[in-house]
Amino acid sequence: MRVVLIGASGQLGSDLAQVLSSRPGVSLFPLTHAQLDITQVEQVRTVLTEKRPEVVINTAAYHRVDDCETNIGQAFAVNAVAVAQLAAITIS
Ligand SMILES: NC(=O)c1ccc[n+]([C@@H]2O[C@H](COP(=O)([O-])OP(=O)(O)OC[C@H]3O[C@@H](n4cnc5c(N)ncnc54)[C@H](OP(=O)(O)O)[C@@H]3O)[C@@H](O)[C@H]2O)c1
Repeated sequence: MRVVLIGASGQLGSDLAQVLSSRPGVSLFPLTHAQLDITQVEQVRTVLTEKRPEVVINTAAYHRVDDCETNIGQAFAVNAVAVAQLAAITIS
């Protein structure tokens, strides 16, 4: 099974990367924030088209509460808009 893991250097992402990388039958493509910015929908589409995953796990998040309150736009961009766009991507 081909698995793309977004946000792979975060706490949850790195734990999942460790577990999944040793699972038989899993081809894991861990992507850090530096490698894939989830708010860049065309970049996301390009990467998914290239990797052709059967499963996408999104652990990217902008969740420090103080930062979210002062940078509302980024909070919605990462935690809401990008997630909706990710879910809507189809690969032909
Ligand atoms: N940790 C837990 O125990 C736990 C448990 C249950 C649920 N969760 C949920 O899992 C999610 C991740 O939590 P976490 O604790 O792993 O947080 P975290 O350590 O802060 O990891 C979040 C990751 O998302 C990346 N990121 C931020 N903006 C991004 C963007 N625009 N594009 C791509 N990547 C981006 C961050 O990269 P940078 O740091 O480089 O910006 C970071 O690597 C959250 O929704 C959290 O509520 C966590």
